[in-house]
Amino acid sequence: MTFPKLTCMDQFIEDLLAKMTLAEKAGQMTQLTIDTIANGKAYKLDFPLKLNEDKLIEVVQEYAVGSMLNVGPLAHSPERWREIMDAIASRVAKTRLKIPILYGIDSIHGASYVMGATLFPQQLGLAASWNRDLARKMGEISAYETKAAGMPWAFSPVLDLGRNPVWPRIWETFGEDVYLAGELGSATVRGMQGDDIGHPHKLAACLKHFLGYGVPLSGRDRTPAYVPARQLAEYHVPPFAKALAAGAATVMINSGEMNGIPVHSDPAILTDLLRDELGFTGLVVTDWEDIQYLHSRHRVAETQKEAVRLAIEAGIDMSMVPLDFTFTDYLIELVEEGTIPESRLDLSVRRILQLKKDLGLFKGMVEPEDQYPLFAGAEFKEASLEASREAFVLCKNEEANLPLQEAQKVLLCGPAADTLRSLNGGWTYSWQGELTDEQSLPYATVRGALQAQLGDRLKYEKAVSFSGEMDIAAAVKAAKDVDVIVTCLGESSYTEFYGNIDDLRLDQAQIDLVKALATTGKPIILVLLEGRPRLITEIAELCQAILVGFHPGNEGGQAVAEILTGKTCPSGKLPITYPKYPNALSTYDYKHPENLELQGVLGGFKPQFEFGHGLSYTTFSYSNLRLSQSSIHENDTIRVSVEVENTGKVKGKEVVQLYLSDLYASITPPVKRLKRFEKIELEAGASKTVNFDLTKDDLAFVGRENRWIVEPGTFKLRISSLSAEFVLQKTSKLASA
Ligand code: BGC
Repeated sequence: MTFPKLTCMDQFIEDLLAKMTLAEKAGQMTQLTIDTIANGKAYKLDFPLKLNEDKLIEVVQEYAVGSMLNVGPLAHSPERWREIMDAIASRVAKTRLKIPILYGIDSIHGASYVMGATLFPQQLGLAASWNRDLARKMGEISAYETKAAGMPWAFSPVLDLGRNPVWPRIWETFGEDVYLAGELGSATVRGMQGDDIGHPHKLAACLKHFLGYGVPLSGRDRTPAYVPARQLAEYHVPPFAKALAAGAATVMINSGEMNGIPVHSDPAILTDLLRDELGFTGLVVTDWEDIQYLHSRHRVAETQKEAVRLAIEAGIDMSMVPLDFTFTDYLIELVEEGTIPESRLDLSVRRILQLKKDLGLFKGMVEPEDQYPLFAGAEFKEASLEASREAFVLCKNEEANLPLQEAQKVLLCGPAADTLRSLNGGWTYSWQGELTDEQSLPYATVRGALQAQLGDRLKYEKAVSFSGEMDIAAAVKAAKDVDVIVTCLGESSYTEFYGNIDDLRLDQAQIDLVKALATTGKPIILVLLEGRPRLITEIAELCQAILVGFHPGNEGGQAVAEILTGKTCPSGKLPITYPKYPNALSTYDYKHPENLELQGVLGGFKPQFEFGHGLSYTTFSYSNLRLSQSSIHENDTIRVSVEVENTGKVKGKEVVQLYLSDLYASITPPVKRLKRFEKIELEAGASKTVNFDLTKDDLAFVGRENRWIVEPGTFKLRISSLSAEFVLQKTSKLASA
């Protein structure tokens, strides 16, 4: 096996590397969890967390471990985090080479393991905003507040595509579309890293989980995915490629297997694709325990030692072991017995040291506290509130039942109405987010925020809980005295395998609640707070308005209250297809034969709500769709312009979406693909011309040879209900896009 060489050389790093022993190199490539340096047992640490000096000596001084991660049972205050970092740093100071430890943390919607930090919508909620500025802002604030707690590395953003709505991590993605995910992912990376990851307010981002994690066939977490090479290249690689082009410093690997090969053992993905094709020179870290799982779960390695060999040969730099020293010991053995050359370790250690140097860690692991005056301040709160407002999608509003009218009396009910767990989802103060409500946060639930707006015009009956307790009769009785019912349904917090489900339909008790409420004849406003699109087929027709928020964050309660009362005009659009039937889970970019209904045959694409759908309290009209040319050559740029007018009575935001269809191609073309979007804001009566430029990259697809090509022919583009066609002339040849 030959390993790629690093091209550029940094003398500081070369000098340091020359001094390192084999054990110190293996130590650098080892990442352990905080459980290994704290009192108590792994996963059952003493609470509150207390560092253990003997364990610290073993991890930092004896094993010279290069990186640590995680939080223990619950988030810490920034001050406590800094104490933890300082304690680690003072152990580092006692080591031979004093190489700083790189601490990584799951700051996935803000600094989610730092008490008091500003929390944004989860990625799927943020994606519903279709707002690049908000994604960048989340990246900036998340980095700032994570660094305020002394940590320089965040395991975020997720660039996996959320194309299987059953998957319990779909809310961690930017949704089902390649272009939307790439745009928001790269904006987040720019926000987190800026131009210099060594800046006190910046840190290293980590794109995850390379590659194909988001589409397990069964929908259950970390179960096998089967992805044809062409789809991998055309759908799953581009969002990562765009975020890498934005400068992402690190990449985490998919825990699952793809086409029968666990990704952690696959050199075709980790080296040929990631390094050679995409040119990534930064650090590659495994996911949790994933080298060990090559043996114990995936069974491609007969022993743990063989698992280490496979992963190293595939191309990983750092193992998130994370609970013991087996990786380190086996790695040393593999080099000593001549199975792995020491030069292979040098390659990874250089990347690790380079990252530490770029982050400025050799100058000190923690920045001075006074660098962070904006932590959890009003400016950040306003940004996260704005993100929460834009995270909501008004999917239905029959007879303009929303906004509520001034004097209306309202009954609020449902399991999601009075909990911050449905607003925030997992990775919030703890892994599963189960303690979110107990952290006495200053944030309002939907109930709290509506109460503040409506006072005694609001009645509350929970009626149904997530664990199934029910008093539906009480809610039906209470509904008799009100004008309108707001029912908050959905999901509590969860992530990874804890969120696996057998049935995408909303829980029966919640369905029964709406059916019973509908017998009162009062209008029902359904607010869905959830991590994935739980099916509402049986009740959608019973509700006059439907507002969807995918874990919209700590400010989600306030945002719901503002939207229901008309203080905020909803502007979100669905970043995923909202399905209607459990066996019809196609994405919006399905293929023509998937919609035979178009040809008069039963079956077809019948979602509850389409990707890109979202209503407003105002109306927008589109006109004057113009193309700069109707016939182009391969290297031409075509300019598309359209006029958008706010024809309603209030100011509002609109997402202008451009879809392209290749009418005939040598690989069956999808019905349409999103190619551009822009979010604009217009005063009532105002209009704006929006321009988009398309190039041959937008016309390309992965052809029969599994390479990007463009083919001549007719393309149809659509913006809202307008459409136009243009022709790509025959001069084109195979080209790499
Ligand atoms: C998850 C990753 C996460 C890591 C570290 C894993 O279980 O799959 O997304 O970054 O844990 O907490």
